[in-house]
Amino acid sequence: MTRIWVEKISRDVYVLRIDDSRTRFFESLWSIPEGITYNAYLLASPKYTVLFDGWKAWYSEDFLETISTIIEPRSIDYIVIHHMEPDHTGSLPRILGVSREATVLGHPMSKTMLKEFYGLEPRFKPVRNGETFSLEGLTLRFIHAPWLHWPETMMTLLEEEGILFTGDAFGGYSIPSSLFDDDESLVEWYMRYARKYLATVIGHYRQHVVKAVEKLSSMDVKPRILAPAHGLIWRRSPETIVSKYVSWAKAEPQPGKITVVYGSAYGSTETMVKLAVKILGKAGCSVVTYKYTDLEEGSLSDLLGDALDSAALVIGASTYEAGILPSIRRMVEELAWKTAAPKPVLVLSSYGWGGVAGKKIAEILGKAGFNVVEVVEARGMPSDEEADRIMDAAGRLAEACGEKA
Ligand SMILES: Cc1cc2nc3c(=O)[nH]c(=O)nc-3n(C[C@H](O)[C@H](O)[C@H](O)COP(=O)(O)O)c2cc1C
Ligand SMILES: [Fe+2]
Ligand SMILES: [Fe+2]
Repeated sequence: MTRIWVEKISRDVYVLRIDDSRTRFFESLWSIPEGITYNAYLLASPKYTVLFDGWKAWYSEDFLETISTIIEPRSIDYIVIHHMEPDHTGSLPRILGVSREATVLGHPMSKTMLKEFYGLEPRFKPVRNGETFSLEGLTLRFIHAPWLHWPETMMTLLEEEGILFTGDAFGGYSIPSSLFDDDESLVEWYMRYARKYLATVIGHYRQHVVKAVEKLSSMDVKPRILAPAHGLIWRRSPETIVSKYVSWAKAEPQPGKITVVYGSAYGSTETMVKLAVKILGKAGCSVVTYKYTDLEEGSLSDLLGDALDSAALVIGASTYEAGILPSIRRMVEELAWKTAAPKPVLVLSSYGWGGVAGKKIAEILGKAGFNVVEVVEARGMPSDEEADRIMDAAGRLAEACGEKA
């Protein structure tokens, strides 16, 4: 169900949130049965009206109608774009068709993109990093935050109200049952979706989260409220999401958490993986498993979230047409691209006549920066000697679980 939320988050600012449970694959890639929200914000002071971001094109009419419940859309003075990705700008052609007098404020690159993406050439004021913009008693301060998530990304601080509009940063998937982080159990439920969002959407550029947080502190930006473009708004404890985002961006391990991913058509690779998992279980590791079999399809999107804060990984895939079993090849490539960190990895692989998958997986993950501790390749089922090697290696991996709380 498409639900629309309109609520004041401060004296002059409203959040306009729409719940999207229709999108199955965000960016045509990431499976999100949990859904996603688009959060736009509207500053409606007695003197000025400023819109921050928008909704996906599907919801253009809903967006216009929702704005109309608060103000006359024609009267919008400024529209701030935090980045040009169409999940937030898709509704702009409709809005700018009505709000003809509005001036768009954004990164200099956004001007060109507005023309190239939508054929739009509105009044446009490019803003520099650190620049402030006064609206008689209200001050907008712009902070460039490149690669969170596009090169032209910025955030805006509404100084007098202490609200930082952060765009994608500090956002998450899912459709939370509240707008705010007030309820601790809701926050606990939400965190896996924020981590999954960071891993899948910002993943490859995640070191920029650390840079942006350092930049905010060097610019002495200490917001009271963090207002992201997806998911929960942080007013009870903004520092909670900031510190989690930094920790995930650094791929810091949760002690004892081991993510296992494997594909197995006929059970040989699965037998190898199960030998390792048994050892890990005995050592007290908490094992999260994603598998591709004839009964199950593990979610690549959820896997990336779990891999990010794991202490170690186990990867299993048979050799398939002189390469890696395709389902797992895709996972390995994305793990390398988005979650790489110097964490121990055990690679297990079965083959029929000439094994190559194990070596290829080790090469991809090793090059990306993982620490491949062992590769075991078995013809068909593992021999006793191969089983011993697997259990030995798993024992070494389990050292990562030593500090488990
Ligand atoms: C479509 C297909 C292609 C395969 N290609 C290769 C190959 O190129 N080289 C090889 O050594 N084995 C190949 N195999 C054999 C599997 O690697 C072997 O049967 C392995 O034990 C399967 O592991 P599993 O039981 O975990 O599925 C192929 C198997 C299938 C079904
Ligand atoms: Fe984005
Ligand atoms: Fe977004």
